Amino acid sequence: MQALVDYNKSSDWQLKAASSTIEDLISVFRHAATLTNSTIVACDYGSSEGLNSAKIFSSAIQTIRATIQTPIHIIHNDLPSNNWNKLASVLYSNDGYLKYPDTYSSSVAKSFFERVVPNETLHIAFSTSSFQYLSKQVVSPDSIEACLSEIPEIRAQASEQGEADMLEILRLRYEELVPGGRCVFLIHCMPDEGKMMHAELLSKAHNSLFAKRVITEEEYKSFKRPNHYRTKTEWDRIFSKVSSQYKLVSYETKSFISPFYEKFLADGDQEGYANSIKNFFRPLTQAAFLKSIARSPEEKTEIFEEFLNEIGNQLLEGDPDVRIWYSSIILEKIS
Ligand SMILES: C[S@@+](CC[C@H](N)C(=O)[O-])C[C@H]1O[C@@H](n2cnc3c(N)ncnc32)[C@H](O)[C@@H]1O
Repeated sequence: MQALVDYNKSSDWQLKAASSTIEDLISVFRHAATLTNSTIVACDYGSSEGLNSAKIFSSAIQTIRATIQTPIHIIHNDLPSNNWNKLASVLYSNDGYLKYPDTYSSSVAKSFFERVVPNETLHIAFSTSSFQYLSKQVVSPDSIEACLSEIPEIRAQASEQGEADMLEILRLRYEELVPGGRCVFLIHCMPDEGKMMHAELLSKAHNSLFAKRVITEEEYKSFKRPNHYRTKTEWDRIFSKVSSQYKLVSYETKSFISPFYEKFLADGDQEGYANSIKNFFRPLTQAAFLKSIARSPEEKTEIFEEFLNEIGNQLLEGDPDVRIWYSSIILEKIS
């Protein structure tokens, strides 16, 4: 998978969701301070260009610095192709946490399907909007993401890959965490009630693009995203398989309307709402969409813009209340 381009510019929706973890992060920092007198080490897996991570950690550290003076080291992890310059500059900006005393950062450019930090050196494993990415694509003939296929066998394959990948993530984090260390994970999941999910809007727009024959059948079938939205049943199976390594401190399913929808409810500006949703999807889909169409560079760009317009059209034609669902999880490594 390729890193996301210009993610910092259009990730307010993810920020709104990630902000829901601040209280949890504060509580795991307080817990971490009981585990060490030297340095509290946290790793942020899938930090992308860093603006959301910077704001979340900044907010949590501002609160805990009132009572806890232990040095803090935050390690940011993402793929080597991530824009690390942007991450570095944001951490030093007003949005960042490096303004707080005795607070440090570093970065590790490698997959979170590998070991990111040495054995038993981590007090906090943190991740928002990243562990829905699979280590490999499960190919589905009828959907962009295999877990949304109409074909039961494809959904079963997706479920199997989703479970294997999460067990691997938890195995690696188990090695990295000190005994008693905690995980705070916010991960895209399957809806538990009927409102439209962001990924369904994407599928509708893509189907419509094909129905209008803007893209060929081959191009239509080539657009894939390696995301898996786990169900509560899948999570229960995963938790039971790691129950001798981790204590489940809390699990909750949350849905978030976008800040763009909130603005639309206040001002009724349909075009503004459609544009914000298009910008939200731009970094999340650009690389995979461009790869799926076999055209000249100019045509690719033109068709991608048409695809984004189609997302805007579908949004305004249907129920505008589109949501993102998350599993919010706290786990503790059993000593
Ligand atoms: C949607 S962004 C989330 C950014 C930020 N954590 C937030 O909450 O806004 C997901 C990030 O996960 C990264 N990612 C996906 N697969 C990864 C992997 N195997 N290893 C490390 N990072 C990965 C992507 O490159 C991307 O930057």
